[in-house]
Amino acid sequence: MNRELLMSDATHFRVDYEINPYMCTGVQPDPAAAVAEHAAIAAAHLAAGRKVEYLPSAPQCPDMVFTANAAVVRGGRAVLGDPPAQRQAELPYFRQWLTEQGYDVVAAPYPFSGQGDALAFGDLLLAGYGYRTDRRMHPVLAAELGYQVVPVRTVSPRWYDLDLAVAVVGGPTNTLAWCPAALDPASQGRLRDLAVDLIDVDVDEAARFALNLVSDGTTVTMTRGNPGLASALRERGLQVVELDTTELAKGGGGIRCTALTLDNPPATTG
Ligand code: ARG
Repeated sequence: MNRELLMSDATHFRVDYEINPYMCTGVQPDPAAAVAEHAAIAAAHLAAGRKVEYLPSAPQCPDMVFTANAAVVRGGRAVLGDPPAQRQAELPYFRQWLTEQGYDVVAAPYPFSGQGDALAFGDLLLAGYGYRTDRRMHPVLAAELGYQVVPVRTVSPRWYDLDLAVAVVGGPTNTLAWCPAALDPASQGRLRDLAVDLIDVDVDEAARFALNLVSDGTTVTMTRGNPGLASALRERGLQVVELDTTELAKGGGGIRCTALTLDNPPATTG
């Protein structure tokens, strides 16, 4: 998993509006630093042996660097995101790219944050709702992609996308990392009931986007400055590569947000 990713670039990354609590139009990314930070993330994926596809960002799309919100992809099918109005202009670019690559592209009938709220975990889909995603998307995702959906609700706009509160790590111990305090009690119960290896991450590390990571089950690429999670991953035999995400954080995103997974395994049953 996560050996084939779609990325864009940070060339046009800006904070033109505030659609999550981390964005402040008065605090702009440094353009050169943002480009360098993003290039370092792409280089780390390549160094880990991952394939990176590239779609250039459009000037009128200041959040296009966050490709994770474009869709969720499984096998030959992609369900497009349906983002807030400020990001709708991104959609035609992603739709066209996915179509040209041969994916069956399905539009979302309700608000949907794409992979930001849809984390594949084997045949399960950990599916967020309540902020960017309408819960009515869950049966749509189940039907279109063949996932068994596990609904997970976050409790604050700090976790406006599930990929800030939960991370699929996989690896030798089939691990999930999560910030329990970011989820409502029923959702906490649903994740505990999975009976998988769970790494608890505290609110401080989660708020520094510790969980917004990309793992292929061997190497985990994550935000620097989160020693609790980094050491828990190393204890499980994973390689951990820590990178600076200061500029991307001004848009309310991190490493996971900049990579749309293209190789989610197809259904093993049914
Ligand atoms: N500024 C972007 C937005 O608010 C950040 C998106 C981050 N993506 C993510 N998957 N969490 O839409």
